[in-house]
Amino acid sequence: MDPVDRTARFPVGAVVTLEALTGDVHPCLARLRTAEPVSWLPAIGGWLVTGRDPALAVLRDADSFTVDDPRFSTARVVGPSMLSTDGADHARHRAPFAGAFKHAVVMDGFEAWTAIEARRLLAGHLAVGRCDLRPALAAPLAVGVIARALNLEEADPDRVLGWYRAIVAGVEGVNAGREVGDGTRRAVADLRRAVDRTVRNSAGSLLAEVAEEGSLTADELFSNTAVLMFGAIETSEGMTANALAHLIGDPSQLAAVANDRSLVPDAVEESLRMEPAATLVDRYATREVDLLEARIGVGDLVTVSLAGANRDPVVFNDPDRFDVRRPNLHLQLAFVKGPHVCLGLHLARLQTIAAVDAVLDLLPGVRLDDDFEPARGLVFRKPAAVPVAWGPSEG
Ligand code: HEM
Repeated sequence: MDPVDRTARFPVGAVVTLEALTGDVHPCLARLRTAEPVSWLPAIGGWLVTGRDPALAVLRDADSFTVDDPRFSTARVVGPSMLSTDGADHARHRAPFAGAFKHAVVMDGFEAWTAIEARRLLAGHLAVGRCDLRPALAAPLAVGVIARALNLEEADPDRVLGWYRAIVAGVEGVNAGREVGDGTRRAVADLRRAVDRTVRNSAGSLLAEVAEEGSLTADELFSNTAVLMFGAIETSEGMTANALAHLIGDPSQLAAVANDRSLVPDAVEESLRMEPAATLVDRYATREVDLLEARIGVGDLVTVSLAGANRDPVVFNDPDRFDVRRPNLHLQLAFVKGPHVCLGLHLARLQTIAAVDAVLDLLPGVRLDDDFEPARGLVFRKPAAVPVAWGPSEG
């Protein structure tokens, strides 16, 4: 079907703008999901999947919907990795890292540390009575956790963030049709040296063990390390910021969780359902596929809206309501399903739970400032700030 026919065939998708997908996206996703759960969007030059069933069908079928495509910009900046390969090659890239991210291993290595680190980060703000929890807690916790997981402890958070920003700028540049710039090249080379140093000097570290295991080349070890690092920073910061904002912004749910702390993991899961920090994932069709009303052509971009799937009313009753006691909140798809399921999901959950616990322990009476503005973003969604105050209310 040529693009003009597609536009006529999917009138709701035809008028969706990038701004509608970036700002208050949920009403737009609801309209699409009701009328065109797999729709053609000229704004993204591809199909957008907003229904939960078709989303699962795409995510679970890597033979028909691959990530392995030259348009995938991250691979053009850091090289091929588990994020940009499928089939046997994907398994080869992912397997050497998998053991270190299993639930029991993560709990052993990080549960006590994240609890202490989250409290340490908040401690510096206690005397002031108000702060922005994104830069105070969510962001430095995200950087600290992944630096520790990769044994890049000698790299201070500012340096890690510098690499991060330069590589993100490179990926955005490639998306906009530009070549990879000098700043990005320098950051990639600097990070590469830090990875090589860790492999040489930190015997027993994850990176040294993967290098020794021998199934990845030095280039592949680097590109997977970069993906681990960059997959962890913005997403985890967003996940924690979103969870804090959802919970603190809803006084009755906050009181329920404060009174029964066993609800904290469910509150985090419900926040992932409401606003997955990474909200769009891209695949490329390897063959012609009919998905609901859509005839998808070979090579077509197929973007899955995890935010759309997570508010599908067929599965989630009253889907726009934040409800920490929702019985099926674990059916949310923020970490996707299928072969590319997030490798860091246990580590991500652990740090956000630690952040929420630290806030509940240390900031009694915590409340959102009136100037709070909800999450925004096309691919990564989070609020610009999570400004809070605590202690006795001024009014
Ligand atoms: C410690 C933190 C994290 C680490 C180390 C991490 C690491 C990774 C890695 C290595 C992958 C690629 C897996 C593969 O392709 O086989 C991945 C995928 C993914 N991660 Fe994470 N991640 C973290 C946190 C998060 C968070 C907080 C979110 C969102 C709330 C998230 C969402 C995703 C999604 C949606 C994918 C799938 C991408 C796709 O299928 O195209 N991750 N993650």
